[in-house]
Amino acid sequence: MAHTPQAKYRKDYRSPSHTISEIDLTFDLHETQTQVTAVSNVKQLGTSDQLVLDGEGLELKSILVDGTAWENYQTVEGGLEIRALPKSFELTIVTVINPQENTALEGLYMSDGAFCTQCEAEGFRRITYYLDRPDVLAKYTTTVIAEKATFPYLLGNGNKISQGEMDGGRHWVKWEDPHPKPAYLFALVAGDFDVLTDKYQTRSGREVDLEIFVDKGNLDRANHAMVSLINSMKWDEERFGLEYDLDIYMIVAVDFFNMGAMENKGLNVFNSKFVLANDKTATDTDYLGIEAVIGHEYFHNWTGNRVTCRDWFQLSLKEGLTVFRDQEFSSDLGSRAVNRINNVRIIRGPQFAEDASPMSHPIRPEKVIEMNNFYTLTVYEKGSEVIRMMHTLLGEEKFQKGIKLYFERHDGTAATCEDFVAAMEDASGVDLKQFRLWYSQSGTPELDVTSHFDEANQSFSLTIKQQTPATLDQEEKQALHIPFDVELYRKDGSVIELRCNGKNVSNVLDVTESEQTFVFEAVDEKPIPSLLREFSAPVKMQYAYQDDELVFLMTNASNDFARWDAGQMLFAKYIRSNVEQVQQGGAVALPENVVDSLRGILLSKTLEPAFIAEMITLPSHNEVSGWYDVVDVDAIALVLKELKSILSTELEDELLAIYHNLKQEKYSIDHASIGKRSLRNKCLGYLALTEQGNALVEAQYQVANNMTDTIDAMAAANQAQLACREQLLQDYSDKWAHDGLVMDKWFTLQGSNPAENALDVIKQTMSHSAFSMKNPNRTRSLIGSFLNMNPVRFHNKDGSGYRFAGDVLKELNTSNPQVASRLLDPLLKYRKYDEARQALIRKELESLKELDNLAKDLFEKVSKALES
Ligand code: TRP
Ligand code: ZN
Repeated sequence: MAHTPQAKYRKDYRSPSHTISEIDLTFDLHETQTQVTAVSNVKQLGTSDQLVLDGEGLELKSILVDGTAWENYQTVEGGLEIRALPKSFELTIVTVINPQENTALEGLYMSDGAFCTQCEAEGFRRITYYLDRPDVLAKYTTTVIAEKATFPYLLGNGNKISQGEMDGGRHWVKWEDPHPKPAYLFALVAGDFDVLTDKYQTRSGREVDLEIFVDKGNLDRANHAMVSLINSMKWDEERFGLEYDLDIYMIVAVDFFNMGAMENKGLNVFNSKFVLANDKTATDTDYLGIEAVIGHEYFHNWTGNRVTCRDWFQLSLKEGLTVFRDQEFSSDLGSRAVNRINNVRIIRGPQFAEDASPMSHPIRPEKVIEMNNFYTLTVYEKGSEVIRMMHTLLGEEKFQKGIKLYFERHDGTAATCEDFVAAMEDASGVDLKQFRLWYSQSGTPELDVTSHFDEANQSFSLTIKQQTPATLDQEEKQALHIPFDVELYRKDGSVIELRCNGKNVSNVLDVTESEQTFVFEAVDEKPIPSLLREFSAPVKMQYAYQDDELVFLMTNASNDFARWDAGQMLFAKYIRSNVEQVQQGGAVALPENVVDSLRGILLSKTLEPAFIAEMITLPSHNEVSGWYDVVDVDAIALVLKELKSILSTELEDELLAIYHNLKQEKYSIDHASIGKRSLRNKCLGYLALTEQGNALVEAQYQVANNMTDTIDAMAAANQAQLACREQLLQDYSDKWAHDGLVMDKWFTLQGSNPAENALDVIKQTMSHSAFSMKNPNRTRSLIGSFLNMNPVRFHNKDGSGYRFAGDVLKELNTSNPQVASRLLDPLLKYRKYDEARQALIRKELESLKELDNLAKDLFEKVSKALES
């Protein structure tokens, strides 16, 4: 490296030296040479007459102060120092940038011939010199100038206030955003699109124009996004009392995008993956993803934009809260249980893995080198769990009072996580002093629970020990305030009231000490406890359940999540014991009672199909890997495969009956139909392992009238390595090679192909006409799935998977460090593998470390991993 990148610390926060109340921007757009003129009203706040602006990769043309050229400045690494300034002045800065060459997709870049921007977190500094920090809020006006024929649509934040024609076939549009905002919420788009329009009237009667911009020819794929947007606007009014605050809401779908989507004020920019869908091209998962992401970005308008973050260490203030809100939105519109299950899978799988990795950090990080590295599962998903715990502790009513107070106090400003907790505390009267530790402590807490039934006294006690293992970033851990939701059952399935010290008590216990015993009175028989209901805290829990207790909970627990969780614990027991068995040279086996419990679930007349589908799903290889200090990749893969195979043989009749019964003639994406397809295709995944597998899968592919059935047939063929696999994949590729987004599903199948020659095929696939390493979606689909969803081939003992990863990372290090940095994550966890594999992965990390142009993004992670 040229020089070592420096970390920033949360404790070093200082308020800005100057404020910028207004900025007027003019973009003269040209592919390779765009001129940006920024005119700002700047006011000195502190004692210094020197202004240090952020800037990267900019060509500086001129600086004026109050209209006259200013000489007293110097460009420095990462910015510009302007000296001896008046207390209050107008600053004009002209810079030139090259959008065409911008492959990092940060700042102003070209996506398929359209100009677009991505400024979060620190991309605005690649557009002009500025105070690129979220606590500087300014009113923006933006003038966009471009050639009219190629770029008929010129979009910016806020409302369009004027437009006109110019000589030479160029035209311009001027936008004004009345809401002060930080630079990261700035956006501009110029291009040619098809537009889907609609209108929404808010509760208070404001008429809002809704516009969704998609690539030409894709108008028939924008409908679901529009429906989702309208549903989001309505839901936020009904559940949170929050209304939209501009006259127009625009969404632009682009093919080149590093993340899911971006909540720029009034002008969201979306990865086209989260906009475009129709029956021919999209799976049910795609439809649900669009609903969630459209909701997420819309909800940011209040939680993120109206109240923004003081500094980037506070990122979870907006992201944790907004994920919580989008999860609630999806749960209110669809199945609450299925949504909860899938959110919990993310925490127990990848988020726990992140906690255990060299990148472990609290939801409010203390130390950051590259901010883009902290858009993590911890900040987003665990951040949402922390909000959810407050919701559990306060209840909906007091939680909403807290939200209201939060907006009363902080609307129009940049706030901190502490501000949010204080509002919750003040509005509810609930003490959150110890609870705040969730913001500063990293790692996964482990709960060890034991119970005792005292027959003579009719009392039942639960002893809960908590402990959080040390993480690389933080040695010492303290006891947390953990909301622990319990229910006690009699053998007949009835619920025992919880009574402590002569009073009825809530189901949510306040666990606050490292060891604590709760004694329940008037317990008239030895109860079966349902523990950590709803996953009331993001922790690992250990309790010595007997099989029959878990089977009891699977069928009798009063809530669906608890049933599912009991099933998962039962699976976990037999996965663990079988892994040991396999390691000692034994065979995989599953007792009759476990098979029968699942048979019971499959035959249930009362459970929803979508829920049954979750019940019969084994934990993923990644989740299971998280249970071990040293991961035996091959043993885990073998056990999961064999268990699936045993279940498919034992339950073949039931699976087949369901498969045939759930066939739907018409395709519809309502939640009930999605649920039926989900169960039916889950059955197909099992049946693929039986003798009739190939025939069933091939037939489904041939008659499918929707993408879900098509993809699930191919996925079943892929996982079971059926004879028809080759031909189905070929057929799909012939049909869809022209459409990258549709091909992503196919690339994902190639990446996760369990075949022995998978890596060779992947390398060939990289020259497929639809593939390009310049496109993050393509790269993530093919390469990302290989690194994350193909454990056996990626971790091949010969090191070929690791070498391949190293080569790809070197290429992406220069073209797109953000994408490279995300792909790197599986390699960081090398300590979890045997010595031989550790050495092979280390070699790749070390060779990255030696690159002299190593990006900050990769430097931060690689150096942490190597010091672990
Ligand atoms: N704020 C965005 C979201 O969560 C995240 C995001 C979109 C982002 N694009 C980005 C973050 C690029 C960093 C870099 O909705
Ligand atoms: Zn977000």
